[in-house]
Amino acid sequence: MKILVGIDGSDHSLWALMEAVNIAKKISGAITVITVYTQGKEEEAERIRQKTLNYLKKEEVDNSFYAILGANPSRALVDIAKREHFDLIVVGSRGLGSATAFLVGSVSKQVVSKAPCDVLVVKK
Ligand SMILES: Nc1ncnc2c1ncn2[C@@H]1O[C@H](COP(=O)(O)OP(=O)(O)OP(=O)(O)O)[C@@H](O)[C@H]1O
Ligand SMILES: [Mg+2]
Repeated sequence: MKILVGIDGSDHSLWALMEAVNIAKKISGAITVITVYTQGKEEEAERIRQKTLNYLKKEEVDNSFYAILGANPSRALVDIAKREHFDLIVVGSRGLGSATAFLVGSVSKQVVSKAPCDVLVVKK
């Protein structure tokens, strides 16, 4: 089973990754983590990569990481899931955004509505 995880550097997205790792371990799945970043945010994307790989190296799970330049994280997640035939997308319910009036962020909302596969929205 191929699992795609979206990471934006938030605690929520780290919790999503932890949940994805738990699932992958149980079913011998493979995890692909992506962070979508905009121009000028290369250093932030690199920090997210380091943090993610640092966490994943302690876990015995098949994994890879990609930083993707783009302005639309949900579209990138959905397009990759379609193109590479992922079975599951895992995202956090919230991210770095501060609009706490919403229980679910715009990226996770869009992923749920546009994904070609199952989506797990991790809440905490
Ligand atoms: N740039 C990104 N790259 C990869 N995954 C992302 C990105 N942004 C968000 N995600 C994923 O979507 C989840 C929910 O984040 P989302 O952006 O929807 O919430 P938010 O930041 O609280 O709200 P909003 O962005 O609408 O203000 C994150 O936990 C993460 O899994
Ligand atoms: Mg956001």
